[in-house]
Amino acid sequence: MIKIYAPASIGNVGVGFDILGAAIKPINGDLLGDCITIKLSENFQLLNKGIFSNQLPTNNEQNIVWKCWYKFCNIIKKNIPVSIILEKNLPIGSGLGSSACSIVATLVAINEIFDNPLNSKELLLLMGEVEGEISGSIHYDNVAPSYLGGLQLILEKSDIISQKIPDFNNWFWIVAWPGIKLSTAEARKILPKKYTKDICIKNSRYLASFIHASYSKQSNLAARCMKDLIAEPYRSKLLPNFFESKEEIKKLGAISFGISGSGPTVFAVAEDIKIAEKVSLWLSKNYLQNNTGFVHICYIDTKGARKIG
Ligand code: HSE
Repeated sequence: MIKIYAPASIGNVGVGFDILGAAIKPINGDLLGDCITIKLSENFQLLNKGIFSNQLPTNNEQNIVWKCWYKFCNIIKKNIPVSIILEKNLPIGSGLGSSACSIVATLVAINEIFDNPLNSKELLLLMGEVEGEISGSIHYDNVAPSYLGGLQLILEKSDIISQKIPDFNNWFWIVAWPGIKLSTAEARKILPKKYTKDICIKNSRYLASFIHASYSKQSNLAARCMKDLIAEPYRSKLLPNFFESKEEIKKLGAISFGISGSGPTVFAVAEDIKIAEKVSLWLSKNYLQNNTGFVHICYIDTKGARKIG
């Protein structure tokens, strides 16, 4: 029997729409992500557990876990039955890479129990493919960090899908999920099909400057470049009081604030734990819409998907 954990992630990281993603872990040591326990079995079995398992489809064949297993068996041309327990610890449609967590944990677990027939690039390609089927189009900015850990830059060259870039280890990432659902497919549909030359130039400038600042260790410059011209202007209206929250969070001393993935989770960055705690408190009091919502102060999770049992 094998147990695999895959961490939550912040897609886009403010400035890299579909291009940057960061795996995160709460500083208090909690696990923020999904777990898969797998063993070989006589026939395919799936048991859903975890606080958000009630959001999962009741028909197994609509469950991502089943899709992953089915696709994997097709690729290796063998039907190997397994028994799987999914611990669904992340809310669906939260903007924390919830589907990516399930996909990554499942595919890593299946590969491991089948004696690793796929290499890491083949696995990542398959993760992107399944993610694309769920969200409307392939994007690696959740599956890559959840699988490989750290801050990932999506390259999508035929031989390299994603590579880790330096992150700031003094940054606290505060994430707040308001307790409401937003479908990634819907949040992708509302974006424009085309952007003006001016936006393209500004976006390239911010992204290039962020990457430069990350390599040259200029924390403040990196934070100032985390500007989202691609999704935030359109998605912000789907989030509760986004701009008011941004203003308040910046007043508290956060150096960045934005939408995590397709939302409705928001993230803030602080360099000081005291500021991170104030931001966390403010978001708990003002951004959460019901008592299922949560706030976590996180570090970057440098490990990604891993065996925990
Ligand atoms: N880059 C994706 C999007 C992330 O913003 O649609 C989804 O979590």
